[in-house]
Amino acid sequence: MSDVFAVEGLAGEKRLAGTIRVGGAKNAILKALAAQALFEDEVQFLNVPEIEDVKRMRELLTYAKSTPVLKKDIAERFRASIVLAGPLLARHGEVTFPFPGGCVLGERPIDLFLNGFVAMGVAVEETGGQFVLRAPKGKLKGAHIVFPFISVTGTETLMLAATLAEGETILENAAMEPEIGHLAEFLNSCGAKIQGTGTPVIRVQGGPLLRANGKAYTTPPDRIETGSFMIFAALLGKEVTVTDCEPAHVGALTTLLTHAGVPIEVSKDSITVRAPKEMKSFSVRTHEYPGFPTDLQAPIAVLLSQATGEGTISETIFDGRFRYADDLALMGADITVMNPHRILVRGPRALTRKNLESPDLRAGLAYILAAAVAKGTSVISNAYVIDRGYQRVEERLQKLGLNITRKQV
Ligand code: EPU
Repeated sequence: MSDVFAVEGLAGEKRLAGTIRVGGAKNAILKALAAQALFEDEVQFLNVPEIEDVKRMRELLTYAKSTPVLKKDIAERFRASIVLAGPLLARHGEVTFPFPGGCVLGERPIDLFLNGFVAMGVAVEETGGQFVLRAPKGKLKGAHIVFPFISVTGTETLMLAATLAEGETILENAAMEPEIGHLAEFLNSCGAKIQGTGTPVIRVQGGPLLRANGKAYTTPPDRIETGSFMIFAALLGKEVTVTDCEPAHVGALTTLLTHAGVPIEVSKDSITVRAPKEMKSFSVRTHEYPGFPTDLQAPIAVLLSQATGEGTISETIFDGRFRYADDLALMGADITVMNPHRILVRGPRALTRKNLESPDLRAGLAYILAAAVAKGTSVISNAYVIDRGYQRVEERLQKLGLNITRKQV
């Protein structure tokens, strides 16, 4: 049995109205849960989204309580599993893990993680599809690590490992995503010494196990959900307010939509999007934070299919993130894949229904969006990959007036 979503399209009518709440950020809580392995005592977690990847991380943690091993069949299901390798290695002096799974977005190697661990004194052995890492004398050594390019989970994993290492670790060309600074702030309140998050150079002074002493980690709002809902609203909303979000984290998207002609009003923790008279096309290039996030490029392609004129999307982070383009073209979008990193979208074009299989988490959300724009009812299978990152998305979209239902087949 697997779940599918049936979506009745609005044939381009701008009918959605009301408020939609943003949940806790997947890519924040997963790393915070992994950081539990740095603590002597239990950490409490608040605003936790009930999504599949969170369940998987909790399963990994339960298993790793007795032995520093990432259980293969679980770790192979999501990329963030590898983040737990850092704290386990730092705490126990050894860790065993398989090549991590996750969305298929082209090559997703782990060389930056392995090179970072080696710089911290670790010996790497690869046997039977598993990596076994050991620190001599059971302790990591602080190191000066310069990333050849920016990696979000690479930065997080080494930052976490460094909190229990001997001496200072410097991470250069580090990722600046807000979830990293938010986690560091919490860890610092529990005894860690991390400086420089939000800049390209992070310094970590290693020390003993952390203590929460009853303090709770509150998951920050998911900026990709925020952006996805804003795009929904721009395409199909009369007036929609996205609540419980952090507007400062979606600045690049807000600027793009505003220039395209979408009326947007920002308050402290909510964003109201009103129906534009006309939406002009634009070009966009994905970039590490604070640039335009790669996780919003599939939804933005659907938006461009409905905007007037020609726009391009350049994907600079991943090699294989346009796998959705053919399906959108079959629905009627005018999309040309110029090369593996660039597509051209001409609009507006009316879309018609199609049964689709969600290829990955973010493209899956884009398929719901395309189905909602189209004429007729579409069925989107492989709902699991959407559930990996969006908690009961259908219930929240129903509240705005979209006819979307979950079915078991
Ligand atoms: N890379 C390497 N070697 C490495 C690590 C990364 O070559 O050892 C490459 C990747 O293949 C990619 C680039 O470096 O081409 C940047 O990837 P990064 O490591 O930053 O991505 P990630 O940490 O695997 C996280 C998010 C992704 C998000 C990217 C980019 C998590 C769990 N995942 O992935 O989120 O797209 O950063 O912002 O935090 C999603 O939520 O749907 C998702 C895919």
